[in-house]
Amino acid sequence: MGVTSLGGPSGRAVAGKPAYLVIHNTSEVVTPDPEGRRVLRYPKGAIAFAEGRVLEVGGAVELLRRHADARPMNANGRLVTPGLVDCHTHMMFGGNRADEFQRRLAGEDYAAIAAKGGGIHSTVRATRAMHDDMLEKLVAARLERWRANGCTTVEVKSGYSLTPRGEIRLLELMRAAAARVPVRTHRTALLLHAIPEEFELRRREYLEQMAGPVLEEIVKRNLASAVDVFCDDVAFSVEECGAFLRRARDRGMAVKLHADQLSHTGGAALAAELGALSADHLESATPEDWEALAKAGVTAVLLPVAALTLKQRLPEAGLIRVCGTRVAIATDFNPGTSPAQSLLECGALAARLCGFSAEEILLGLTYNAACALGVQNEVGHLNPGAWGDAVLWECETMEELAYWMPAVRPDCVFMRGADLALPSVERRVWP
Ligand code: NIG
Ligand code: FE
Repeated sequence: MGVTSLGGPSGRAVAGKPAYLVIHNTSEVVTPDPEGRRVLRYPKGAIAFAEGRVLEVGGAVELLRRHADARPMNANGRLVTPGLVDCHTHMMFGGNRADEFQRRLAGEDYAAIAAKGGGIHSTVRATRAMHDDMLEKLVAARLERWRANGCTTVEVKSGYSLTPRGEIRLLELMRAAAARVPVRTHRTALLLHAIPEEFELRRREYLEQMAGPVLEEIVKRNLASAVDVFCDDVAFSVEECGAFLRRARDRGMAVKLHADQLSHTGGAALAAELGALSADHLESATPEDWEALAKAGVTAVLLPVAALTLKQRLPEAGLIRVCGTRVAIATDFNPGTSPAQSLLECGALAARLCGFSAEEILLGLTYNAACALGVQNEVGHLNPGAWGDAVLWECETMEELAYWMPAVRPDCVFMRGADLALPSVERRVWP
């Protein structure tokens, strides 16, 4: 079930008895149904956790009666949802590109800045220059921030070191950072992001090393559960990505693609052909691409802040509904195109830019995002048996989630059915 690391308590109480908790007096408990097709709403509902997992969701009176020995927690009339899932981040980077942002605002374009040694390569220099322990702490602090914003599962990509050794180092530091924070972390090796300066005249050799020894080591040491590529005119061709991803798939890894972002190159069609877990970006995808993704069961991941920053259009919700494509929304947190640190904020943008309903936004931030990581049996919903990862929000209805800007804050974040202290939100006291 993927490479997941989870620090913190196991959900078992110290006395040897399983932790057993009922959250009651909610405004409502909302969760995607077990197939992730629609949202189930339990007005004034309650939820019971035991041994780290969801035991039951339903009416508060019956649940409190049935679980009389459980520790009750008063939600004070607020909303409970599954923990959010950010299925696309590049948080493993040093430095920032605020200067480049100013250049783009002044009219210079993304590809032109990259051609002058800026863009991805400037972040590569900053990331390589950072000491291991500093980078590890920085990423751990970012994971804490994500959790404080309501994300209990976070995907993290490598990709800002580029050399074979450098990418392995990033995956190792990612594993160390994840062990410090009680968040589920999924590691993705973004191995075709850009050609490093060292290999500029040796493109073939680079592709061969990444698809050969680097993948072999990643699999052997369990350093990542998925691989990703940047399939675009400014990065790697459909042929290069296809050859690489097939070899990754042959080794049992899940595959993901940055597809049809800056221009339409055929990345989404390749994702459908390969049965990828997800095709991400898709600003330049066609209606045929959306249909192909739906048919192949590939989750489409929309990244609204990257689209806004690069002044690109996002697809209309109407088109996606007709095609029936499963859609997730993610931050794409990266220093160049998406310095977005709140997933819920990205949901608020997607609602406005695409026309998604509150229900579609919730699915996109939970169940569908879990599908983009292949873990929808475990997280992204609160049906019995799922991990007890949930958020008690400082609002009352599902409709408020994508409404307020800045986004509403969690009051409590539960991991494995346990209320863990939040770094920037006051910890609740048991009643
Ligand atoms: O997801 N598209 C490729 N990678 C990143 C941006 C890379 C950068 O500018 O640093 C993205 O948008
Ligand atoms: Fe990305």
